[in-house]
Amino acid sequence: MTQSTGIRRARPMLRLLDAFSCIGGAARGYQLAGFHVTGVDIEAQPDYCGDVFHRGDAIEFIRAHGHEFDFIHASPPCQGEGAPTKGTNAARNRRIGRHHPRLIAPTRAALDASGRPYVMENVAGSEVRKDLRLCGEQFGLGVLMHRYFELGGWHTTQPQHPAHRGRVRGWRHGQYFDGPYVAAYGNGGGKATVDEIRQAKGIDWSTDHFRLREALPPAYTHWVATAFLTSVQEVAA
Ligand SMILES: C[S@@+](CC[C@H](N)C(=O)[O-])C[C@H]1O[C@@H](n2cnc3c(N)ncnc32)[C@H](O)[C@@H]1O
Repeated sequence: MTQSTGIRRARPMLRLLDAFSCIGGAARGYQLAGFHVTGVDIEAQPDYCGDVFHRGDAIEFIRAHGHEFDFIHASPPCQGEGAPTKGTNAARNRRIGRHHPRLIAPTRAALDASGRPYVMENVAGSEVRKDLRLCGEQFGLGVLMHRYFELGGWHTTQPQHPAHRGRVRGWRHGQYFDGPYVAAYGNGGGKATVDEIRQAKGIDWSTDHFRLREALPPAYTHWVATAFLTSVQEVAA
């Protein structure tokens, strides 16, 4: 018979790999759900809020270490992906010689090869499978920021898409529109300031305007993490 020592062992923390981490908008949601978070980004990220950070290529990191994690989140850059970027912006990028590699397919290949459950997030018009769509209004946020999630090796149910409370405020074609949501992209034309984005997304640890715009609201990944943990419990039951 095993005798109780009276000491309750803490359950080991699940480990999340946060690929293409930026400042860690996604990371914070997983931390709030109880994950230990390791981030990887090609650029230095002094504001990163995760637990561990590696600077390097995320696809190579997933190939080398993905299998060591319980769950993987990947946010490949969307500059080469979204519908607006394929039109006028794409033409401008070609003109000025700016090239954005398409990273979704190689990221998916690395994720599948890891054998671990994952989620890959991106914008409308990208090649991610649209298994899940999240919207800021679902969490009462001040941004709409529709994002799409491809789920690998696990499933959840699409939540209802709530009606928007109004418009995204700012200037469009010479006219100012007011509304409950900020434009957390670009510069000028009434686009959101650092303080407005922090407030709207629920991010309080960075003042980097560019990266704040790129970051996911932590509420999104907290939702994803909770859905993932629920699915694991259901499979185990
Ligand atoms: C859309 S942002 C990710 C936002 C992040 N999920 C968040 O919530 O804060 C994409 C990031 O990918 C990084 N990146 C681009 N190419 C990369 C590569 N090959 N390997 C790792 N990171 C890369 C960029 O530096 C940028 O920080």
